[in-house]
Amino acid sequence: MIESLKRKISDRSIKIGVIGLGYVGLPFAVSFAEQGVEVIGFDIIEEKVNILNNGESYIPDIPNEKLKKVVDDKYFIATTDFSKIDEVDLISICVPTPLRKTKDPDISFIIAARDEIFKYIRKGHVIVLESTTYPGTTEELLIPEIKNKGFEIGNDVFVAFSPERIDPGNEKYTIVNTPKVVGGYSENCSIIVKEIYSIAMNTVVIVGSPATAEMVKLLENTYRAVNIGLVNEIAIICQKLGINTWEVIEAAATKPYGFMPFFPGPGLGGHCIPIDPHYLSWKMRTLNYDAKFIELASQINGEMPEYCFRLLIKGLNGISKSVNKSKILVMGVAYKKNIDDIRESPSLDFIKLLEDYGAEVYFYDPYVKTFNVGKCEYTRISFPDDIEKVGFDAAVIITAHSDVDYSKLMNLQLILDTRNVIKDDFKNVVRL
Ligand SMILES: NC(=O)c1ccc[n+]([C@@H]2O[C@H](COP(=O)([O-])OP(=O)(O)OC[C@H]3O[C@@H](n4cnc5c(N)ncnc54)[C@H](O)[C@@H]3O)[C@@H](O)[C@H]2O)c1
Repeated sequence: MIESLKRKISDRSIKIGVIGLGYVGLPFAVSFAEQGVEVIGFDIIEEKVNILNNGESYIPDIPNEKLKKVVDDKYFIATTDFSKIDEVDLISICVPTPLRKTKDPDISFIIAARDEIFKYIRKGHVIVLESTTYPGTTEELLIPEIKNKGFEIGNDVFVAFSPERIDPGNEKYTIVNTPKVVGGYSENCSIIVKEIYSIAMNTVVIVGSPATAEMVKLLENTYRAVNIGLVNEIAIICQKLGINTWEVIEAAATKPYGFMPFFPGPGLGGHCIPIDPHYLSWKMRTLNYDAKFIELASQINGEMPEYCFRLLIKGLNGISKSVNKSKILVMGVAYKKNIDDIRESPSLDFIKLLEDYGAEVYFYDPYVKTFNVGKCEYTRISFPDDIEKVGFDAAVIITAHSDVDYSKLMNLQLILDTRNVIKDDFKNVVRL
């Protein structure tokens, strides 16, 4: 099988299947299609499939023109028909891995995708799990059943884990120039995945096992969560000492070695940093070990929306106002700058607090037109025109999108800036 796959790689007749066409799966699929490789994208949502087949993209990192070209050239097609798995050689699983309410991993999407794949599995299939998950998932969920079906892994069927490192909104580092880590179940598995991935990606780094590759991803995201937790605590400490946190971090970052700057904020957001470390701490609890750094960072980061809310209360108090009945403008609801993703966004927590305290809440975000918190539906204001019309009591900057002119807020009585975007000459600013 390995020789036949290698021949298909060299003449580009290899076919790629991608299960889950979201923030991760779609860029992955398009990166291969752009290299002249046929890609079939699988999703369970018919509407998404239809949109994509029309050459329209719902992922900002993939502009319509890019998608339309690979659709028109017949290098990319989306489908809900999983029987087409039989037609592809490599199957990349990019389905969600959220947390349950109890903060335990929800791997039901991986299991559902696996069950579909296993209906059509055949000799020559290369299966790569890309969804972020706890160490051991690939070997627990994929390997035993493939063996039970009588396939020899590394000869008939090839299996690996390869963590997705995509950073939505990052124009410098894309799926193509960010090194891709691959941990195959056997040496042959790693070799074949490396050769296929090298069609679309500049650098492929092989590690010794799927579990090692799973752990690489969790180290990367735990590293971020813990360092953000640390710098959030430093922000609280600086506030108590009357020191400007941002000035401290910027000066510390002039050290050319041994220091990497992280910045405080109103809380973690997105599908990765607030979630992934819990996959590791859950796994460790099953082994009777408490992952202490993860829990502490999660506690500090989780308290940040409330900490920032207290700063707002203090600021309003300073101008003899209460949150109750105040008109508050929330600037930014996406979880990070220059993207439209509001999953786990700290803005949603902040808005919930404002609602609970009786504020009249408005928002502006250039990337988000409407969203819901509980039963309330919000529609963005017209910025800056509505600033004067509505007469806000305060603005709270939660997301620091690049293309927003914050100087338009200058005349407000109070601005809570949780991202340090407001220049020094502004008056009435409370900074995190
Ligand atoms: N978004 C990121 O920035 C990012 C970065 C690195 C890693 N990851 C990881 O990648 C994985 C995917 O994340 P995402 O952000 O792309 O999620 P997403 O929600 O944007 O996309 C997932 C897609 O999978 C589809 N889907 C769900 N179940 C399916 C099934 N059984 N078969 C086929 N399709 C199915 C959904 O309809 C959706 O279109 C997660 O494990 C995530 O942690 C995400």
